[in-house]
Amino acid sequence: MKKSCAVVILAAGKGTRMGGTKAKVLVESFSGPLIIEVLKSALDAQPERIAIVVGFEGEEVQKTVENWVQQEHPKYIDKLSFCPQKEQRGTGDAVKAALPALEEFQGEVLILCGDTPLLAGSTLTKLIEQHQNQNATVSILTALMPQPASYGRIVRDSSSGEITAIVEAKDASPAELLIQEINSGVYVAESAFLPGALHQLESDNAQGEFYLTDIVQRASQEGQRVSSLLTTDHAEAFGVNTFQDLHDINQIQQERVRNIFAASGVSFLQPHSCVISPCAKIGSNVSIGPNTVIGKGVQIGDRVTIEGNCYLQNTSVDKDSILKWGLRIEGATIGAGSMVGPFAHLRPGTVLGKEVKVGNFVETKKATLHDGAKASHLTYLGDATIGKDANIGAGTITCNYDGYQKFETVVEEGAFIGSNTALVAPVRVGKGATVGAGSTISKDVKEDSLAVTRAEQKTLEGWSKKKREKLKKAAKK
Ligand code: UD1
Ligand code: MG
Repeated sequence: MKKSCAVVILAAGKGTRMGGTKAKVLVESFSGPLIIEVLKSALDAQPERIAIVVGFEGEEVQKTVENWVQQEHPKYIDKLSFCPQKEQRGTGDAVKAALPALEEFQGEVLILCGDTPLLAGSTLTKLIEQHQNQNATVSILTALMPQPASYGRIVRDSSSGEITAIVEAKDASPAELLIQEINSGVYVAESAFLPGALHQLESDNAQGEFYLTDIVQRASQEGQRVSSLLTTDHAEAFGVNTFQDLHDINQIQQERVRNIFAASGVSFLQPHSCVISPCAKIGSNVSIGPNTVIGKGVQIGDRVTIEGNCYLQNTSVDKDSILKWGLRIEGATIGAGSMVGPFAHLRPGTVLGKEVKVGNFVETKKATLHDGAKASHLTYLGDATIGKDANIGAGTITCNYDGYQKFETVVEEGAFIGSNTALVAPVRVGKGATVGAGSTISKDVKEDSLAVTRAEQKTLEGWSKKKREKLKKAAKK
């Protein structure tokens, strides 16, 4: 790009069509608040200034934008300004409110609506470049919509094909309503042209508003060059005006994320049933089954298999692990070659070493299972450390809570905990020790010893037969 550019984002509207209880531009789409998505794309143009027009819930909008810029792109914080639009009298009036922030700025002004979150940054830079190359006064990003509904229609001169006006759906004639080329709400305008054009806007239209779109007709009538760029992906122009629009946009954003991961080596067995956070990091040769949610802060290594019906958040899964069907995993670290599930719940603070096995109906919380440890069935491990290659039998429970405080359980390397054992914390089972099935262990068990707390078994020969005969006799009477 040759010249400098300033960005204006219109974000003062109430969003009446979405209930009007929250600033529309702060509505969360799948990828984030609408205005942040617009801003992300706008930064591709490397603007010299960024003016955000605020009104309804303006302070909230300002806070959200400032926090995001401060965290993600601090170099733009000084270029950012917020321009209050006292009354929401239309998009033209909104840009007028941004003029003080453009004072002494000379160059192109990229104007965006804060409710169009699917714009690609590359499209915006392309529009600016074309605007410069064609020496245009105003340039518009347009799209072909099969069902243009409430979008502004692009009116062109029938012989020259030049744009002569943008007509809002509510003001359009039946013939104009048939036009499928629509206004995306993205414009590039020369800074020298804007103030004059905006001050002459009038509100004699169906909505009684000052339409920004009317600057196009003005430029055309003055004989100024109006150029346009037709986007190849009409979804880029989608604006969020209703909850249905938001639903559609969420679907598209999710599909885009899946496509990015698919291109880098993830195979989805049933793509549309999976929700993958754009912040996730996923390696290659990873297979993801149906109904899987991969939320924020998830890292998945190469060759991991996720069978399906899994919910993962703030978790890392190292290479070659297998996550079987039906898991909820949050705040966990899973070492390479481990196998988890089916039907397990790994809660925050779970750390699995390499080749650990956590089987069905196992719950873990603040539990470290070192390399090769196994808890294959029906177990609760809370505030526990399980040593290398230790085996936790089915039905083992760490009794970590006395109703007031939490206590720790340690099972050392190679220990074997028999089924249906209660480990009453604080307690330690030494290296290589064995705990007999059905025990309640409340005292430490020394290395290599056996601890068993169940009552000794008695066998009374023939007892069952005698009992049956007695009962049968009683029943006949
Ligand atoms: C607008 C365009 C329409 C275009 C569509 C693309 C006008 C008159 N119409 O219609 O041609 O097809 O966008 O999405 O421009 N805003 C303010 N202050 C106001 C009014 C609006 O800041 O007084 C902001 C809103 O917060 C919103 C943006 O401007 O972010 C667009 O406003 P909206 O009411 O959504 O306009 P559309 O009806 O979608
Ligand atoms: Mg809109």
